[in-house]
Amino acid sequence: MNKKKSILITGGAGFIGSHVVRLFAQNYLNYQIYNLDNLTYAGNLENLKDVENSPNYKFIKGDITDENFINSIFNKYRFEAVIHLAAESHVDRSIKDPLAFVKTNVIGTMVLLNAFKSCWQGAFENKLFYHISTDEVYGTLGQTGLFTETTSYDPNSPYSASKASSDHFVRAYGETYGLPYVITNCSNNYGRHQFPEKLIPLFINNIINEKSLPVYGDGNYTRDWLYVNDHAIAIDLVFHKGLNAETYNIGGFNEWKNIDLVKLLCKQMDIKLGRLEGSSEKLITYVKDRPGHDLRYAIDANKIKSELGWQPSVTFEEGLNKTIDWYLNNKEWLDNVTSGEYQSYYTKQYS
Ligand code: NAD
Ligand code: DAU
Repeated sequence: MNKKKSILITGGAGFIGSHVVRLFAQNYLNYQIYNLDNLTYAGNLENLKDVENSPNYKFIKGDITDENFINSIFNKYRFEAVIHLAAESHVDRSIKDPLAFVKTNVIGTMVLLNAFKSCWQGAFENKLFYHISTDEVYGTLGQTGLFTETTSYDPNSPYSASKASSDHFVRAYGETYGLPYVITNCSNNYGRHQFPEKLIPLFINNIINEKSLPVYGDGNYTRDWLYVNDHAIAIDLVFHKGLNAETYNIGGFNEWKNIDLVKLLCKQMDIKLGRLEGSSEKLITYVKDRPGHDLRYAIDANKIKSELGWQPSVTFEEGLNKTIDWYLNNKEWLDNVTSGEYQSYYTKQYS
């Protein structure tokens, strides 16, 4: 019997990571998937209930910054490929505690790169370090233009600076040590299992609870939204078909001003909750802006489209609809993740 290919997915208990783990565990029975996650506030094994007993899946609790531990699991499991998603991922938290972002996003990535390098000692054939990154590394756009793979890095928040730094280290290890890698930079994801600190799930939760909807600044900031399942499909494609040392931008071809998106969300929620039209919109409250707030992100995803044949499969209306339904039908999940630490975070961030 052929040995299963050993694949490490970091951050697999988080939002995007759990979709990637599920897709790989369900579709690739010839892979042994190891999900490494230290279960921060954002990690939740409930997200993976449906695959937790799959024979080709194993959860490992651990911290990517713990060098001895990471080296030991590389020695034990000889990971042939890494899909690296573990990160501190929320911009507002990075403004309050930047060092935590350097530790996980920069040092953690370095620890993984070193472990991968010393595990394979240059015998890199058929090996891959796949680094998941963000469009925020490119900084901000004005009213026009799109981020391409050749746009210069110009990060503005501690989060995006830490992600940019980790991208640079991955490329540097490719150049210096011949480490095989690929990087993708994706736009804003939404979908089920997203922690309600990010715009869409936070506002869904607040609408359910008839709490105010804190729109930063004038609400005229623009993001490009992608349904998380489509991101996971893109990751699968890049993992199998992406070329060594390449970068691919992933986006939804789907730009929304925050305020327009929030109004659409309010409208859909009023219908689903059987509330009077316009009642959720009354919850909108303009609050103090995010410091260093990037005006606009928009991805040119034509490279991955033309070279690998990927494109979003879900329209925004469909995706948003499914997302709202999931949160409405999974109140217990929402209640669990919004108890405890969440309450003190919320007070500090919004009071
Ligand atoms: P998330 O915050 O939902 O999940 C992050 C996961 O990483 C959690 O399960 C957490 O427990 C784990 N983790 C954090 N620190 C760790 C550590 N030191 N050791 C081990 N595990 C640790 O994040 P997400 O939104 O799913 O984002 C995943 C990746 O995708 C990140 O690298 C992020 O930068 C990138 N990304 C996110 C988006 C988005 O819109 N959410 C868009 C583009 C790129
Ligand atoms: O672009 C990709 C990035 O998208 C990812 O790399 C990040 O991990 C992810 O968090 C996301 O970053 P944003 O800062 O764009 O997402 P967030 O949901 O925090 O905010 C979306 C927009 O909504 C942004 O313009 C800020 C605004 N906002 C957000 C919150 C939480 C508000 O107006 N009010 C809020 O309470």
